[in-house]
Amino acid sequence: VSGTLLHVSASARRDDSLSRRAGRELVGGLTAVRPSLRVVGRDLAEASPPHPSAAFVHASLKQPAERGPDDVAALEYSETLIAELEAADIVVIDTPMHNFTVPSALKAWLDHVVRPQRTFGLRPHGKVGLLRDRPVFVVIACGARCHGEGAQEDFLTPYLRYVLGTIGLSRVDVLRLDGLRRGDAQVAAAFASGRDWMRERAAALT
Ligand SMILES: Cc1cc2nc3c(=O)[nH]c(=O)nc-3n(C[C@H](O)[C@H](O)[C@H](O)COP(=O)(O)O)c2cc1C
Repeated sequence: VSGTLLHVSASARRDDSLSRRAGRELVGGLTAVRPSLRVVGRDLAEASPPHPSAAFVHASLKQPAERGPDDVAALEYSETLIAELEAADIVVIDTPMHNFTVPSALKAWLDHVVRPQRTFGLRPHGKVGLLRDRPVFVVIACGARCHGEGAQEDFLTPYLRYVLGTIGLSRVDVLRLDGLRRGDAQVAAAFASGRDWMRERAAALT
């Protein structure tokens, strides 16, 4: 199988972004073991998804059969993002941690992608995911530490697992690079252990 890899990047920074650097390394490792993978990029800084507009909210919450042309137009961008996700056999998301959770650009992407009657269904017992499950690799860059003395709370990892699980993506594998604003030695150490993680994931793909 050749397959498609959707690479979502969320940092507002470009060349100096550590999450992007790690995401590039991971995608490089995965495509090295599977060279036929087609990589599709979705850069959330280059073109940030808009906050949900009133038109989007109305359209999203309507029954599909009740939607008019304006509703369809308001959902067009969301449909583009969902189609990218549906076409992907592997998803890589690289993101900074902002205030203990996802940065707003990634949250906006999720708001367009996680939609009732489209990517999740409403059942009497709760929500069920409607997307085909597939591996999702998440690389998180944190300035501070999430373990040890004075550690911060990480709401990003459990949140992403939960929200992606809601749409049917249950295989969420997370690499968190911690303490990246604690000096070059900490950055080097985080990337060194990160590379072991990446090598294992690439090896599992063969
Ligand atoms: C608005 C903002 C909020 C941040 N909040 C956190 C945070 O809650 N926890 C943390 O560890 N780092 C936080 N940071 C630091 C970044 O996560 C860190 O610098 C990371 O490397 C940024 O990713 P990037 O290098 O890919 O741009 C924050 C940075 C910014 C700009």
